[in-house]
Amino acid sequence: MTQKTGQRKWDLRKKMADISTEIAGVKFETCVFNAAGPADVTLKELEVIGKSKSSAITMKSCTLEPRKGNPEPRYADLEFGSINSMGLPNLGYKAYVKFSKIVKEKYAKPVVASISGMTLEDNIVIFKAFNDSPVDLIEFNPGSPNTIGKPIVGYDFQEMDRLLETVSKICKKPWGVKLPAYFDFVHYDQIAKVIKKYPVKFLTSVNSVGNGLVIDPNKEKTVIKPKGGFGGIGGRYIKYTALANVRKFYELLGRKIQIIGVGGVYTGVDAFEFILAGASAIQIGTAFLQKGPVIFAKAQKELLDFMEKKGYKNIEDVRGKLKTIN
Ligand code: DHB
Repeated sequence: MTQKTGQRKWDLRKKMADISTEIAGVKFETCVFNAAGPADVTLKELEVIGKSKSSAITMKSCTLEPRKGNPEPRYADLEFGSINSMGLPNLGYKAYVKFSKIVKEKYAKPVVASISGMTLEDNIVIFKAFNDSPVDLIEFNPGSPNTIGKPIVGYDFQEMDRLLETVSKICKKPWGVKLPAYFDFVHYDQIAKVIKKYPVKFLTSVNSVGNGLVIDPNKEKTVIKPKGGFGGIGGRYIKYTALANVRKFYELLGRKIQIIGVGGVYTGVDAFEFILAGASAIQIGTAFLQKGPVIFAKAQKELLDFMEKKGYKNIEDVRGKLKTIN
């Protein structure tokens, strides 16, 4: 290589924006990876994520025992997103402890466990098991919106306090909490007050927005079967709610706790908006299911291009820098 070509290559490299991130001390090659939930139940599915450009492998939220989940149909694609009432179908935590060892050895990227025990006691057993696994981070997902007969735990601040206190005592890995969407400023203050009490390293915001109802007007019928057709809404419908949640938590807790933004990300520019709001990383859920694993490479390239066009060098130049109209 001549000195001149070498110099040109170096200049190009200097211009490339860096979209790597770090969550709780764990390095991620890019800030875009898969959300817990879609296509991450089986080892085969986790291998697909491992081979893709997703910068981490997040596994399905797991329970103590394997669960078949709710009756089908329990998922539907919609014009601008999705509705689901999966009911936590998963292979039980022991399978994910085992899978974490396999994928951790095979793929050079962080592995994220998601824990959704049905009771406090179940959560204790599951967290202890993951202490002895190679997972890099644990996302505690205390409330699926779809478990029949169970309220969304994230809306019960006393119960959240009890759960987080217990997790603090037993979890030896860096851990964070996946939160439902909040809609009232008072509720943000209340949950932030609880979270502040514990060594929570990150928040993942938002879970699918609970209990939407999709109706097929021709059939005069719901599109999913469980819970009379009620289910969690994901995709573009929830992007603005998700951005608002990320922003509020950044304002309230951003100096102490990192935020992983999730909800309606299909493009790199969507991801950029989440970083502006305050996110340190972005997860993709519905869009992964709808577009397949190429979505990760696509969103990352778009994010890189957009940042370069704007002259930003890394995500810290952007994070939280949202301007408001005065
Ligand atoms: C399920 C849905 C969720 O939004 C969640 O956080 C966990 C589980 C489900 O229905 O499987």
